[in-house]
Amino acid sequence: MTTATARAHPNIALVKYWGKRDEELMLPAAGSLSLTLDAYATTTTVSLDPSATEDRFVLGGAAATPGQTVQVTRFLDLVRARAGSAARADSSAHAVVDSRNEAPTGAGLASSASGFAALAVAAAAAYGLDLDRTELSRLARRGSGSATRSLVAGLGIWHAGDDDASSFAEPIEGPEMSMVIVTVDPGQKKVSSREGMRRTAATSPYYSGWVDSTARSLEEMSAACRAGDFTRVGEITESNALRMHAAIEACEPPIRYLRSTSVAVFDAVEQLRTRGIEAYATADAGPNVVVISRPAEAEAVAEHLADHGDVRIVGAGPGAHLIPTEESA
Ligand code: DP6
Repeated sequence: MTTATARAHPNIALVKYWGKRDEELMLPAAGSLSLTLDAYATTTTVSLDPSATEDRFVLGGAAATPGQTVQVTRFLDLVRARAGSAARADSSAHAVVDSRNEAPTGAGLASSASGFAALAVAAAAAYGLDLDRTELSRLARRGSGSATRSLVAGLGIWHAGDDDASSFAEPIEGPEMSMVIVTVDPGQKKVSSREGMRRTAATSPYYSGWVDSTARSLEEMSAACRAGDFTRVGEITESNALRMHAAIEACEPPIRYLRSTSVAVFDAVEQLRTRGIEAYATADAGPNVVVISRPAEAEAVAEHLADHGDVRIVGAGPGAHLIPTEESA
């Protein structure tokens, strides 16, 4: 196949990935666990063009920036190297990559996770590689750490692993849950995750505490998931997120992703709990907050939080997968 199209969804981590122990191989300092969503998909078509002299990257119908194109070319180089060693025809060809995000720009969800997960699946197929989910998860990891988990449907655990072969995501059973995404600020984040992680590892006095406690939280979270214990899953989610932000805020110079409007959502979630509605908050490297709840209570949670920003209820979605190329038009 010389053209292939894939679709992937972003994921939200309940135990966060924040820090690498190997930047080249993109091995994380600790494992993490997330829910792949049923919204905000990325659809990506990779078409080989043996006559082209460089890769082209079209994002949302327009040429991507040179920086974005370099990232895509680096990723395709990994795929070409594998296709070359598998002696595939066209293994050295350049490609046109056409990618579309369904997430509104700036909502903090047009994530690199869905982008690199879709690119991994489409590029592997276009270059004729027959990779299973584990291998695709490892490949996606090389583009962006969180993309590792978007190969998995619903709840997925990314094992930190010891090396390239053992650092991948796989499904894990867990309680049913909904996520209420509260967009308090649609602006772009000021410090990228990649840069924020580097600074945290280099300057935060709490970094080692963060890494050690995350490894423990992941064990507890896995047990809570297997037991279907929604309450414990929620409690660990919220404390893990606040620990990550505490480690980040202790950087030099400091980074603060949470704004007063974000903290107000954490307060509102606490208030919901005092009223007997179980909801727990988390936030990634930006001001927006994601609240987990039991599916039957998601509407009530969304209503309670609507004053704080745009709210949207999402649930568990599929892992990254190939789709017929015609559908992508
Ligand atoms: C806060 O996966 O975007 O969302 O690996 O450098 O590309 P790179 O970073 P990225 O970081 C995600 C950070 C996070 C937590 C998480 O998704 O686990």
